[in-house]
Amino acid sequence: MTAFNQTVLLTGGAGYIGSHTFMALSDAGFTPVILDDFSNSHPAVLDRLAHLTGQRVLCERGSVIDTGFVAQVIRRHQCVAVIHFAGFKAVGESVQQPLKYYHNNVGGLVSVLQAMQTAGCQSIVFSSSATVYGDPDNVPITEQCPCAPESPYAHTKLMCEDILTSLRASDPAWRVGILRYFNPVGAHPSGLIGEDPDGIPNNLMPYVTQVAVGRRDKLNVFGNDYPTPDGTGIRDYLHVTDLAEGHVAAVRALLARHDSFTVNLGTGEGTSVLGVLHAFERASGRPIPFEFAPRRAGDVAEYFADVSLAKTLLNWRALRTIDDMCRDSWHWQQSNPDGYRNMAPHDLNVLQTNSLLSNHDGSRQPAASA
Ligand code: UFG
Repeated sequence: MTAFNQTVLLTGGAGYIGSHTFMALSDAGFTPVILDDFSNSHPAVLDRLAHLTGQRVLCERGSVIDTGFVAQVIRRHQCVAVIHFAGFKAVGESVQQPLKYYHNNVGGLVSVLQAMQTAGCQSIVFSSSATVYGDPDNVPITEQCPCAPESPYAHTKLMCEDILTSLRASDPAWRVGILRYFNPVGAHPSGLIGEDPDGIPNNLMPYVTQVAVGRRDKLNVFGNDYPTPDGTGIRDYLHVTDLAEGHVAAVRALLARHDSFTVNLGTGEGTSVLGVLHAFERASGRPIPFEFAPRRAGDVAEYFADVSLAKTLLNWRALRTIDDMCRDSWHWQQSNPDGYRNMAPHDLNVLQTNSLLSNHDGSRQPAASA
């Protein structure tokens, strides 16, 4: 089946994983369209995507909560599938502000599904998370492991999965691909797109890159008394380009077949915090100052995926190593010490300002002036 001319809507497509998936879909011959409200992303990413693809980037600015708008966008672009990324993802914030998370993550999905129904598009890939497993009894984690979410954020992901399962049961015309991500890190090898968290990063890799570039003094390693070989927590880090390619495989599987699936996306290998730190030192050629700090509340010792189902169902597996992840994260951070913010005007001029941003009222403007 050819992807030629098949348009896929990416809600939250200007974000970290969305923008890399935009690239992977485009490389695979699909036409991706972004819908984003830029609440946690920067319009400058659009010019970079235009530069990388050599094509006009289509982006509709608005919220997933606005069902009528989403339906209009799906119709206007004749989307054959939707990948729903848009959602909040800070575990700690979800504990402080649960309603914000339930409203945006659960309400957002319901709105997108209603819009899809109205517009006659019934294929969806949903961005879920390994966080739904909570503190697992065994590793590697298979999709059959019981789900035991521990934070409001994790609950929103599992509730969304349940909504999708009910919808599919009510009408088998729906095709639903649920992807449970492990720990996405890294950046596009060009160094033009990458992760750009607001404020102090919650996650390990962006924190390490900011220490390496001198924005932060040192890394706090949360816990060195876990029952792991070096005492620090083990996670399944996954290159964001591999993850993006997993979405392409999921869209292909949904469009080719009438079945639905829930799969883990990870490498199947665990790396400790110190393992990541040393890999990053090798990639950057710089020492990363660190000190041991108490365990972070809610963290588990060891967490990695069984990835056999993704291989069987999607014919997908992660290809990139932890060294590739660190090299690309470092390249992105070094080329963009302030992320997408504070880009000098000449930076934008160097890139083709070729992307179009549609506002909710239908007016259009070059993304660089947004
Ligand atoms: N860590 C540190 N210092 C830091 C940040 C993290 O030592 O400054 C450690 C953590 O304690 C943990 C490891 O690095 O052992 C990874 O932590 P991250 O915050 O990068 O990632 P988590 O595994 O805690 O969580 C991530 C996402 C969640 C998602 C989960 C799924 O943030 O949204 O992966 O596996 F649900």
